[in-house]
Amino acid sequence: MSGFSARTGFPRTWNPLARALDERRQRGLPLLDLTETNPTRVGLPAPEPALLASPGAFGYAPEPQGLLPAREAVAAHLASRGAHVSPGHLVLSASTSESYGWLFKLLCEPGDNVLVPAPSYPLFEYLTRLEGVEARTYRLPRAHGFGLDVEEVAAARDARTRAVLVVNPGNPTGHYLHEGELEALGRLCAEAGLALLSDEVFSDFAWDEEPGRVPTVAGRELPMLTFSLSGLSKVAGLPGLKLGWTHVGGPDVLREEALARLELVADTYLPVNTPVQLALPGLLAHAPRFQRALLARVKENRRRLLQARPADARWDVLPAQGGWSTVLRVPLAPGEEATCLALLDEGVCVQPGYFYDFTGGAFLVLSLLPAPEIFSAAMEPLVRVLATSG
Ligand SMILES: Cc1ncc(COP(=O)(O)O)c(C=O)c1O
Repeated sequence: MSGFSARTGFPRTWNPLARALDERRQRGLPLLDLTETNPTRVGLPAPEPALLASPGAFGYAPEPQGLLPAREAVAAHLASRGAHVSPGHLVLSASTSESYGWLFKLLCEPGDNVLVPAPSYPLFEYLTRLEGVEARTYRLPRAHGFGLDVEEVAAARDARTRAVLVVNPGNPTGHYLHEGELEALGRLCAEAGLALLSDEVFSDFAWDEEPGRVPTVAGRELPMLTFSLSGLSKVAGLPGLKLGWTHVGGPDVLREEALARLELVADTYLPVNTPVQLALPGLLAHAPRFQRALLARVKENRRRLLQARPADARWDVLPAQGGWSTVLRVPLAPGEEATCLALLDEGVCVQPGYFYDFTGGAFLVLSLLPAPEIFSAAMEPLVRVLATSG
């Protein structure tokens, strides 16, 4: 169609699963939704709404990087996780999605590319294309537990590559970056002049202790430009408040230039509203309560899943170390979508692996956020339907 940019020409047809789900909802049939990842809809603790009603809420004193007390609160949050950073190296935005857009503007000419992990979060294809940037995938091999293999990253690179994206821990694979992987990535990025964009939105949600884990690249001495991204969406379970942050690190000269340029990008939009910035210290003080409740929920649901799995099942719950989801490897036949449709017929909604670009097998992705009674009720039909697969 003429008159519109190719960047916005995404296919808008519904896949068979979305159609079947819509039909089920229209018919008013019951649904055990194991795709629910909205933290505001699953009965987890929320902060006091009064937090947003601070006396200065209607004032306006624009500060492109974000109001200093808000950035100090983010720095204190990172320090409580062992990352000591200067508030001067933080930039606030309305979300990590927006931060990605700013970073692609900062780093890429139209037609340049960035390397994105697969399987992973499906929004990267949209975030890159909307900025005129290409997303080239590097595989996270299952043999590495879907961890990073720097050889795969190096092989995906070409002359127009500007940055490597890592999701730490992976969504939905739940694998953290490890020291050896970061070291190898650092060498590659420094040699090739690539920036590292580290998406750490799930980093606070580790299920257990693990040696050598890298919870964040913020505050680390690394030889390349690094950007660590996170925000209230996941850290405090408040996606509707629209506040994300990016920590800029790396060699001093590069970091200062990046900050100066990002300040200009941020000044062009000034998207972060005043009430949320003023409330940020209180919202981050609430985060531990939310995170404790979420972790208890996620671990309990995963325990129920493992308990429901018959010892002789032909499907597995893949090992993972954190995050909000879990991945099942299921028999190849009848296929991911057919399995999801069969489960939907039984009133259970899960996602097929292809939504996340899994290859080399058949996979299902389940959210671990639903209320335990919903998650438990889904176990019997899940086990029954999967017993007929293969
Ligand atoms: C890995 C990952 N990064 C970023 C985001 C988006 O976060 P935000 O709401 O801050 O844009 C999500 C949302 O699900 C995500 O899974």
